[in-house]
Amino acid sequence: MDLKLDGMNILVTGAAKGIGKEIAMTLAREGAKVAANYRSTEPSFEEEFSKNIQTFKADVSKRDEVRRMAKNIHDEVGHIDGIVNNAGIWYLFPFENFDEDKFDQIMNTNLKGTIYTVMEFLDDLKKSRSPSVVNIASNAGVGTSALNTTAYSISKAAVIMFTKRMALEMAESKIRFNAIAPGWIKTDLTVGGKTLEEIETLEKSFIERSTVCRTGRTEDVANLSAYLLSEVSSFMNGQVIVIDGGRKDNLTHSL
Ligand SMILES: NC(=O)c1ccc[n+]([C@@H]2O[C@H](COP(=O)([O-])OP(=O)(O)OC[C@H]3O[C@@H](n4cnc5c(N)ncnc54)[C@H](OP(=O)(O)O)[C@@H]3O)[C@@H](O)[C@H]2O)c1
Repeated sequence: MDLKLDGMNILVTGAAKGIGKEIAMTLAREGAKVAANYRSTEPSFEEEFSKNIQTFKADVSKRDEVRRMAKNIHDEVGHIDGIVNNAGIWYLFPFENFDEDKFDQIMNTNLKGTIYTVMEFLDDLKKSRSPSVVNIASNAGVGTSALNTTAYSISKAAVIMFTKRMALEMAESKIRFNAIAPGWIKTDLTVGGKTLEEIETLEKSFIERSTVCRTGRTEDVANLSAYLLSEVSSFMNGQVIVIDGGRKDNLTHSL
């Protein structure tokens, strides 16, 4: 399938590592010009990608930084046709130890960062031939039994509702909005600070609960993002696509 992303300028937030970096490389491979946002450490990309990827620094939880980044992108790349709102963080804590500062950081990054980014590029998207926004939510935003994820799950549920609302509100402007809700993928987010043994135990438990007997890969989300940005998916709008290896505990009520 030719996704025909050449000619499209696409912004990927949180593209320094993990899923975001994989998305940036996949889109570049498919011919898009990619504006790769990073917050702290500037990512480096192999030579095959360097002509199609430019990096832009901004903390997406800060509106003035997103605005400054938008200006730089307009100066150096041009108008934006697509966005992948991928930047995200989590802190795990039980609700009874509610940590307001951490809660605010999660909401400001995962939800407001997504909103600020869309707002800055709305005029571009309205003028684009084939505008598409992909918001990286989480299966936690659909419903999860994972411990201590209340704050994170709330933020991702809000991203899902933002996606649906935007699909409705921006329908006249022909801007499509879809959300991806990935299951567990081994990245710094999910295994940072854990021992090798803890990681192995975690992986095993996810593999056992998967109908396809594996955990997710960053490529799974990157390929789906590319599809949702492409006109090939033009009949899809306002959807949340769960990509979790067909988790048995999500497919049934009996476990
Ligand atoms: N891994 C999973 O199992 C999983 C499952 C479901 C959903 N997700 C979602 O997928 C997305 C990517 O996660 P990941 O697993 O790839 O995590 P990751 O490896 O920790 O990467 C997250 C990226 O987001 C960036 N970021 C965080 N806050 C930012 C901010 N305020 N402004 C700009 N960039 C920021 C980080 O930048 P720094 O390098 O500066 O920290 C990092 O590059 C997140 O939205 C996450 O919630 C992940």
